[in-house]
Amino acid sequence: MLSGRSIGCATSKTDARRPMTDTDKLKSQNTPESRNTIVLVGLMGAGKTCIGRRLAERLGCPFVDADEEIEKAAGCSIPDIFELYGESAFRDGERRVIARLLSDPPHVLATGGGAFIDEEVRRKIAESAISVWLRADLDLLLQRTSRRGDRPLLSQGNRRVTLERLMEERYPVYAEAEITIDSAREVPEITVERVLKALEARVQPATELHGNAAL
Ligand code: S3P
Repeated sequence: MLSGRSIGCATSKTDARRPMTDTDKLKSQNTPESRNTIVLVGLMGAGKTCIGRRLAERLGCPFVDADEEIEKAAGCSIPDIFELYGESAFRDGERRVIARLLSDPPHVLATGGGAFIDEEVRRKIAESAISVWLRADLDLLLQRTSRRGDRPLLSQGNRRVTLERLMEERYPVYAEAEITIDSAREVPEITVERVLKALEARVQPATELHGNAAL
């Protein structure tokens, strides 16, 4: 299901003499499972773009940032979309763009923090992709969101209060993702490793079950 080949990624050259790593195993699996795009969800500052880029690199497949695609389609920045057309117009655009991206060849897709909250988006993701929630605690989100000032939902009021409210509202919904990974204070490569392991665990049980049955 989730191999470099099956998710439409370039298969990296592996040295036949060295033992297979988890990523190699992941890349060499090639079952007909069609839900191969990996969608990262989670609050602003959870690290979706940072982890997504590295994850795509490890899997040898394209990385796509939904927010960037929305900006390209609209021809203006997210803060401008919010200001000129309002949040509900942004959500409509987000829904359309994500639906289009999900029909593209397999890739790693980082979504904006509100995308997965939309029921239709969630359903489409469940149909055609594997969702991974990058869960982070409030202090980490506060620290990471302090680096950028282009998030309309955080540009007014107290950031801590807003993030706390969003955590309360959204975390039960993000919990519907197929995989949850804690985005911790660690180098991104470690988090990527944990995502890869969790993805591999999704394909492993059937094989193991099979193996056990043969014993
Ligand atoms: C939003 C998150 C942002 C962006 C927009 C709205 C949200 O993306 O889509 O500002 O509703 O949480 P990031 O999560 O990538 O910052």
